[in-house]
Amino acid sequence: MSEYKLPFLRDDLLKLEAYNPTPLPANPKDLVRLDANESPYDLPKELKEKLAACYEDYIETNRYPDGSHLTLKKLLAEYVNEGAKKTGLFKSDNISVGNGSDELIRSVLIATCLNNRGAILVANPTFSMYAILAKSLGINVVSVGRNEGDFSIDLDEANKAISGDNYPAIKVVFVVHPNSPTGNCLTEEEINWLRGLPEDILVVIDEAYYEFSGQTLVSQLPYHPNWLILRTFSKAFRLASHRVGYAIGHPLVITALEKIRLPYNLPAFSQLAAQVVMENRHLLLPSVREIIGERERVYQSLTSLKEYQQFKVWPSCANFLYLRWRGENNPEKHQLVMERLKRDKIHIRHTGGGLRVSIGTREENEALLKALAGVQL
Ligand SMILES: Cc1ncc(COP(=O)(O)O)c(C=O)c1O
Repeated sequence: MSEYKLPFLRDDLLKLEAYNPTPLPANPKDLVRLDANESPYDLPKELKEKLAACYEDYIETNRYPDGSHLTLKKLLAEYVNEGAKKTGLFKSDNISVGNGSDELIRSVLIATCLNNRGAILVANPTFSMYAILAKSLGINVVSVGRNEGDFSIDLDEANKAISGDNYPAIKVVFVVHPNSPTGNCLTEEEINWLRGLPEDILVVIDEAYYEFSGQTLVSQLPYHPNWLILRTFSKAFRLASHRVGYAIGHPLVITALEKIRLPYNLPAFSQLAAQVVMENRHLLLPSVREIIGERERVYQSLTSLKEYQQFKVWPSCANFLYLRWRGENNPEKHQLVMERLKRDKIHIRHTGGGLRVSIGTREENEALLKALAGVQL
């Protein structure tokens, strides 16, 4: 069966390596799940109850969901303004909501590069979905490197790629602030480089981990109509299961994204969950401080204790840490470490030439530290 190539399929899809989420057993609660940068905390019981009551009161399962997402967009505009410290700067027409920010990444690609109109630029290691989604649409991906040490983007290489004779030309630059899997925020030099990019390039700044870094470029958006910021409810807001992401940008870019998405892309229950979470964020966001505290504790242990000296660990502004065996990009060793941890039911991610470990609860982090200390290769 696998020998037969169905002739109607695109040849390039046969070679495409898809995103590979860890398969879950029947009872995933037995696992220490440190592989997807989710929050280790479920919603508090009182919010789950509120959500269940809203489900009963407001959702008619026979009806399509609100395809405008207007209520959620208004709440989001308020939240974004709060972060920018400017009342009324952003309104609902600055916001598009997606089925996870993954959907928005795909919409960006469709709006800019499809039909051989352009290629994208990424700096590896970075979030793999930009390249995977681009390739799934037949869009070229130009990859540049990062500087060893702090993982800042190799700007000389990036400039060469942009001004070179790539065909099609680069239409979108994807950056992550802070980057996954390496955890570093954009430096002033990188931000200045983004400021200097020509306006015929769309700059996508992915702030999936904004609540952990406390750093955002939203207040710069009015000066840069070619910038778009992406965020998600999957991390600090504990809603990974509901798949909600949003984009903030110029109304014309937002209108293009809205044209591309499916009419009812966000199920009613997910919209409701995002609304409840936004309205009750004061109950959820204190856990961010706790996770940052745990991140620093784990980082200190990994960098100072003898039993971890075979790992090099980088500082992080997000809810995860990035490690490499002896500081090297060594896929065999990283695969072995991952397999060892799996025996203890601990899942981490082997990606971008290293190991990415999400910060979990204190107990989960202790289990991770114990298991890593026992790794002998
Ligand atoms: C940088 C980055 N962007 C986007 C996403 C996807 O987020 P969502 O769950 O909203 O699709 C992730 C998920 O891990 C991520 O790390």
